[in-house]
Amino acid sequence: MESFDLDQLRRLDRAHHLHPFTDHRAMHRGGTHVVRAARGSTLVGEDGRELLDGLAGLWCVNIGHGREEILDAVAAQMRAVAFYPSFFNTTTEPAIRLAARLAGLAPARLRHAIFSNSGSEANETALKLIRAYWKLRGRREKTKVLARTFGYHGVTLATASLTGLPTCSEPFDLPLPGFLHVPGPNHYGSGKSPAAYGAWCLEETERAIAREGAGTISAMFVEPVQGAGGVVVPPEGYLAELRELCRRHEILFVADEVITGFGRLGAWFASELWDLDPDLMTLAKGITSGYVPLGATMVSGEIAGALEAGGYLAHGFTYTGHPVACAAALATLDVMEREKLVERVRDDVGPRFLAALERLAGHPAVAEVRGVGLIGALELKRPARGPHAAAAPNSLGLAAHELAREEGVVVRGIRDLVALSPPLVVTHSELDRMFAALERALDRLWAH
Ligand SMILES: Cc1ncc(COP(=O)(O)O)c(C=O)c1O
Repeated sequence: MESFDLDQLRRLDRAHHLHPFTDHRAMHRGGTHVVRAARGSTLVGEDGRELLDGLAGLWCVNIGHGREEILDAVAAQMRAVAFYPSFFNTTTEPAIRLAARLAGLAPARLRHAIFSNSGSEANETALKLIRAYWKLRGRREKTKVLARTFGYHGVTLATASLTGLPTCSEPFDLPLPGFLHVPGPNHYGSGKSPAAYGAWCLEETERAIAREGAGTISAMFVEPVQGAGGVVVPPEGYLAELRELCRRHEILFVADEVITGFGRLGAWFASELWDLDPDLMTLAKGITSGYVPLGATMVSGEIAGALEAGGYLAHGFTYTGHPVACAAALATLDVMEREKLVERVRDDVGPRFLAALERLAGHPAVAEVRGVGLIGALELKRPARGPHAAAAPNSLGLAAHELAREEGVVVRGIRDLVALSPPLVVTHSELDRMFAALERALDRLWAH
């Protein structure tokens, strides 16, 4: 490799590289950050400084960075068969083994998986399978799809239409027709209690179903905890009622577990934790701990049966069931089971994380904290005086993110909040250092 020349890299980046979810002018004023190395929960930045990874990459590096087990599994699979497709009556061993392994872990009715390369593709695949399923069942009028405000389901035309965040839809003239949004249970700023707000969301959902006609609605997509929308933790009982509402109206319930799957909440899946019994479940991120791209769409036996009976299934990507990605996923699951990472979140680091979050609720810059398992958020207050008093609306999160980075921890800034989702292998001392760095950042945000 060429020697690390930051000035040159930043020049090349500026000249040739469009980044996802980035304000390029703002980024190039300071120069892009470049992560040079990563081990466990620690990153090494462009200046050689160590940073704690409070977001596990992008809510995904659950088993931590740099695990030799995954490298070995990937190398071995590349030596055996680096690529062969799963099209046309053929496949590879890791794809079969992973589908079977997921069937053993997933909620009871989900016994079939179709693979893809990302969370967006997993949701896009779910949308297409749902359309095909209702058509095969002779219910051609069931075409509309429900999703929720503050939901994030991806960036393709259809999945950005599911995503309930104006920043993701407005620039692209989305949503497409037939995608409907009902309120997500983000009570913050509403003046209502979480329970009252959740009850109102359910009423609004019921009203939307009545208005559109249940017979025209195919499915509802639900992130059990809305992640990119600001770590919206559902109020007690809300998801159970939402699930029941969908069941009553023959609306397929899709659990988007791209973030919540694979231990983040201290259970293999939120659907298991909260007994959601989804008809479909979409997965990505933690499935390979981010080492290589992989998505999966799991479907109930009824849906799989209808699709299989329907004849030729003309859906799938070249890399559907990529053997290297599936091998990485199998090795990731091995690590998770061997190190009991789900239990670790439930019994150990999860409670410690939530207690630390709760302690920050007393900080003057913090308006609210919320979290579950090993994911959480802090809503920030605007200081009355000082450099951040005049910050633009919805920019405190970004300001806090930058200060936290200077203090040694990477968190995600969203609107006026910061989100955290560290690797599941995070140690006690790393958690303590993450929160200490975050507290220093909040002190600076508040200083005047
Ligand atoms: C809940 C959820 N669904 C879907 C996606 C889209 O996944 P990808 O970015 O891999 O397309 C994300 C990504 O953050 C997500 O958080």
